[in-house]
Amino acid sequence: MNILVVGGAGYIGSHVAGELLDRGHNVTVFDNLSSGLRENLLPGAAFIHGDILRYEQLRRALAETGAEAVVYLAALKAVGESMISPEKYSVNNITGTINLLNAAAETGFKYLIFSSSAAVYGEPVYLPIDEKHPANPENYYGFTKLEIERFLGWYDRLKGIRCASLRYFNAAGYDPRGRIRGLEQNPANLIPVIMETACGKRGELCIFGDDYDTPDGTCIRDYIHVSDLASAHALALDFISGNDRSITVNLGSESGSSVLEVLEGARRITGKPIPSRVTGRRPGDPARLTASAALAGELLGWKAEYSDLETLIRTSWDAYRAN
Ligand code: UFG
Repeated sequence: MNILVVGGAGYIGSHVAGELLDRGHNVTVFDNLSSGLRENLLPGAAFIHGDILRYEQLRRALAETGAEAVVYLAALKAVGESMISPEKYSVNNITGTINLLNAAAETGFKYLIFSSSAAVYGEPVYLPIDEKHPANPENYYGFTKLEIERFLGWYDRLKGIRCASLRYFNAAGYDPRGRIRGLEQNPANLIPVIMETACGKRGELCIFGDDYDTPDGTCIRDYIHVSDLASAHALALDFISGNDRSITVNLGSESGSSVLEVLEGARRITGKPIPSRVTGRRPGDPARLTASAALAGELLGWKAEYSDLETLIRTSWDAYRAN
């Protein structure tokens, strides 16, 4: 299939582009390089430097590549920032999606794979979280993802655009084959922050609270390897095109690790001391988040393969060491 990967030079997008190439698709990466990196562009993928907010650039890219499907990963994703600058998230995430959907209606692509997030759920009412869990986002970022899912539902009904909304839990790790080495700039997520501390780029890891109701007092998250996310995108495209229907599925490993477990694992694997200090809680952090990924298993035949803590940390460390 001819596929436009919007945001394909970014951290998750580049892994997805690699997976689609491996499966024999014709891949064009469309990216404005605001956070994506040229070094993440893989041989075999074409590249168009363009911005989803410039409708004409987007429309031309879709028409020129004859895109039959789009993978849409070009969104802002910093939870904290979204609460301070919601306007940036409205424009980038929501206006960007509307441009894409309107361009689909104009250029005729029929399939869309959308990077949604576990942030749509908000504070968990029960665990593990399945797709029937109430969606009450606690931050503006999660709100934009949920709104976008709703737009997709309408365009499915009115325009026949079939979409897969993939609700990622905590994405982490790097390509085990070492093809993607571009590091995220100014990361705020736990594993990259730990890696930067291991490299000496940061002095210490701040642990945001150790008085949660969990066995060691630190928050538990469901870390999912980016290569597992990538394979799910390819399978989701096969599913929505093969079955002519839209889906919404969680992507998680179904296991939880605490901040201290991740830190101890990183100390062991890197052999670095990784200094840390417990600071106050970060507002809006639930104590535990774990996914049920049963629906992705059932519909897509997908299963996480690389999402054990050892592989998550080892592949991250390989990427950080190579830099
Ligand atoms: N943490 C620290 N210190 C840090 C960074 C994080 O202690 O420097 C802790 C957090 O408090 C949290 C855990 O590590 O308990 C994971 O935090 P992240 O910031 O890595 O991830 P979040 O769980 O907050 O959010 C991530 C993505 C969201 C997504 C969510 C879904 O950033 O986009 O997972 O589960 F919605």
